[in-house]
Amino acid sequence: MNNYHVSVLLQPTIELLNVRTGRKYIDGTLGGAGHTRLILEAGGEVLGIDHDQEALDFVEKDLGFRIKDLRFGEDIILVKGNFRDIDTIAKANDFENVAGILLDLGISSHHVDSAERGFSFQKEGPLDMRMDQDLSVSATDLVNALNKNELYELFTKLGEEWSARPIIQSIINARQIRRIETTTELSEIIRKAVPWSKKGINPATKVFQALRIAVNDELHSVQDALPKAVNLLESGGRLAVISFHSLEDRIVKRAFLEFEEKGLGKIITKKPVVPTDEEIEINNRSRSSKLRVFEKS
Ligand SMILES: C[S@@+](CC[C@H](N)C(=O)[O-])C[C@H]1O[C@@H](n2cnc3c(N)ncnc32)[C@H](O)[C@@H]1O
Repeated sequence: MNNYHVSVLLQPTIELLNVRTGRKYIDGTLGGAGHTRLILEAGGEVLGIDHDQEALDFVEKDLGFRIKDLRFGEDIILVKGNFRDIDTIAKANDFENVAGILLDLGISSHHVDSAERGFSFQKEGPLDMRMDQDLSVSATDLVNALNKNELYELFTKLGEEWSARPIIQSIINARQIRRIETTTELSEIIRKAVPWSKKGINPATKVFQALRIAVNDELHSVQDALPKAVNLLESGGRLAVISFHSLEDRIVKRAFLEFEEKGLGKIITKKPVVPTDEEIEINNRSRSSKLRVFEKS
């Protein structure tokens, strides 16, 4: 564990990736390098990708991993990029025909903890939510620019929020007075629109989830990446994906079934691997995680 991110399903993921000495692995979601560290300790070589520069800086500066060129006996290659481009990134770094690929989807603990990144409705900050700081559209832009129908599509499809209408009306009313700029402004607007019993989940949860998925185009990224990842695997190589909500888990499940139907290999996890009660107790965020693994034939 490190102070950047609390890794989920760490041991089962490494076991199912079947890490072997001297083989190549791609970690498409480097984060705090929790999984990568174990792959390196098991003797694997790693190409670590993250689209958030802060993750790369943490791994390079705080963890002090030796970076850059495996030809000179270094541990790891780090690349700032989106895993939806995993094919070109792998090719550029001589990481084709790899033994394993990991995608541990979504945001890191660092994102939630950093008020200035705007992911948490409990922390006052700019309503940003870009994981990749080079993206041009933030959550503020979406909340202030989308029309009623677009907001409805967004909140119902990506947030599965069934009280979307009063929330949207409240947003429209508020932004007629002034632009919505901060996380707490938006959560207050939502709180006024829908009743919230303190026992239930905060009504801002789903709206924030929807905005985050849209800003980072998360579902399309996973959809694009999975076939490319399978292509990059050597025979017997494994693709492991950890998802955190039903929208992304559905994409992974369907893609793996399709790969199996096409005769590309077999699903190793007939049922997804989920965290133990003990892990959930230590790290509540792990409660919704699901790990699925596919092996190329
Ligand atoms: C859940 S964290 C990964 C944590 C990591 N496995 C660990 O144990 O420390 C997800 C990380 O993936 C990154 N990420 C999410 N979507 C990405 C994408 N499409 N391309 C590249 N990186 C992405 C995020 O910036 C974040 O740092």
